[in-house]
Amino acid sequence: MKDPDFQPVLDDIVATLRPLLGTAGTVASYIPALACIDAHQLGIALRTCDGAEAFAGDAETPFSIQSVSKLFTLTLAMQRMGDALWERIGREPSGNPFNSLVQLENEHGKPRNPFINAGAIAVADRLVSQALPAGGSAKADILALMGSLCGEPIAFDDEVARSEAATGFRNIALANFMKSFGKIDNDVAVVLDTYFHQCALRMSCRQLARAAAFLCRDGAHPIDGQAEVTGERQTRRINALMLTCGTYDAAGDVAFSIGLPCKSGVGGGIVAVVPDRLTLCVWSPALDATGNSLLGMKALELFVARTGLSVF
Ligand code: DON
Repeated sequence: MKDPDFQPVLDDIVATLRPLLGTAGTVASYIPALACIDAHQLGIALRTCDGAEAFAGDAETPFSIQSVSKLFTLTLAMQRMGDALWERIGREPSGNPFNSLVQLENEHGKPRNPFINAGAIAVADRLVSQALPAGGSAKADILALMGSLCGEPIAFDDEVARSEAATGFRNIALANFMKSFGKIDNDVAVVLDTYFHQCALRMSCRQLARAAAFLCRDGAHPIDGQAEVTGERQTRRINALMLTCGTYDAAGDVAFSIGLPCKSGVGGGIVAVVPDRLTLCVWSPALDATGNSLLGMKALELFVARTGLSVF
């Protein structure tokens, strides 16, 4: 199917939502580097299966991708381990906030899914064990994957990573709690250092829409179309997890009102996939009560309404 020209759609979404900037939601405030971000920013970028790109608003401004990174670390872990990953991590929505500890005790330290913090920390542990070459670092593997998917170098924001570590008491608790159940193999400090750094990746909407493009192409590499990032079956599974767990306890509402696999982060970014058609990334820093970008979600709702593109 030939794609329409998406540029006017993106321009119109930004023009419609710009007047709402600063009127609702709150910027994440748990670390100074996020608390001081100007809430009056909105970007949207899209990349089609054929590699056509369109973007509008603040689509080229780098931001802290936070939990959007969980999508890529999951991808890396699935590449390295295949189905063995699921011995340590579940695939059910949690129905709880992303940093909740409550289910872990009854569930013997096995996190519900790879997108809540406990699950992403468990994935980071797997990446530390699977670092390539042997003795290499999971952080270097993450940077290599992101750079390859974007076709340009990607870096960590060291100030954000330091602040994450200095204030990450819940994450430290989650990691130690899982370790007490024998569910973390590596040194907790090394695993958390990996997790805090992945949260501190700095990328723009344009870069994220491109990096996630394998998800709308049955796993084919966004730039090198011959290479496979993940197989077709694994790619379907990542999309399924995004739809059911990618926006935490808002996932039901997001499926209802948007109907696309999404992965959000408290930096205000959201990646969304229209399988076999395109990937989108929206960014606006002010969040709703579930930790998802308020105007980002509205932008996705408008996109689906105007294009009719949804998995349902
Ligand atoms: O670990 C944390 O809690 C944050 N660095 C990331 C959380 C996050 O982005 C959840 N997303 N909505």
